[in-house]
Amino acid sequence: MKALEDPDFAARRAQARLELDAIDPAKNGVGGADPLRRDWFEAVYALAENDPARVPWANLAPHPLVKAFVDFQARGLEGLRVLDVGCGLGDNAEYFSAAGAQVTAFDLVEGATLWAKRRFPQTRVAYCAADLFDPPPAWRGAFDLVNECYTLQALAPDLLPRALATLADLLAPGGKLLIVARARDEDPQPSSSSAALTAPLSGPPWPLPPSIFKDPACAGLEPLVVEDIAATAEVPARHWRALLRRSGA
Ligand SMILES: C[S@@+](CC[C@H](N)C(=O)[O-])C[C@H]1O[C@@H](n2cnc3c(N)ncnc32)[C@H](O)[C@@H]1O
Repeated sequence: MKALEDPDFAARRAQARLELDAIDPAKNGVGGADPLRRDWFEAVYALAENDPARVPWANLAPHPLVKAFVDFQARGLEGLRVLDVGCGLGDNAEYFSAAGAQVTAFDLVEGATLWAKRRFPQTRVAYCAADLFDPPPAWRGAFDLVNECYTLQALAPDLLPRALATLADLLAPGGKLLIVARARDEDPQPSSSSAALTAPLSGPPWPLPPSIFKDPACAGLEPLVVEDIAATAEVPARHWRALLRRSGA
């Protein structure tokens, strides 16, 4: 049975969401001193006390859109150096690893990476704690593929240009960035009559607008495929799945 189909798991998840929203500075309009919300992400994993139902994004399986991408590559991932960003409990990283990639996976929260290692004791994935905004210097230009699933949408929108620039910097020339994130339409122009009626974007998560793929920070990243995927029973919200290539090869 998939985790979310278990009513008990789903009930614990719903309760955890309520409790976590109540202490999330971004949900309560107080901003907080740390734009990265490090304390909140730390609290998510600490308060879960080893119950994955209490980690809102941990579904104990690779994301279906990531899984389909990996499956479509067939043997094309073998030997590739893959970096999984904001890896959480490791399901996406493990799926890339099972496809033959050499995977490094990191999260801001060390507790998440330790939990992932406990879940997968035989893992070949190199898990570590790191901050996307301050990655180890040795990672610059070191990866053939960077997988980012749901981490960009968990960042306040004003952090996105810096995040994209960093992700681009981690790719080898010709390397690719996979983005899986909730999607939204572009904001109306301020001059249009509907703009005044538009409520400020609420989040997290903050679904990404299409302009994200044309952001100046993406200057060195050429969009190869941008899929706008409607909600389905399996993925019940509109999503982007985009593949961008770092120029230089
Ligand atoms: C919404 S969760 C997604 C987790 C995982 N990618 C998945 O799809 O299940 C975002 C993850 O990014 C991590 N994170 C947040 N800010 C980060 C940062 N600045 N650097 C690295 N990881 C970060 C969080 O701790 C959390 O595990």
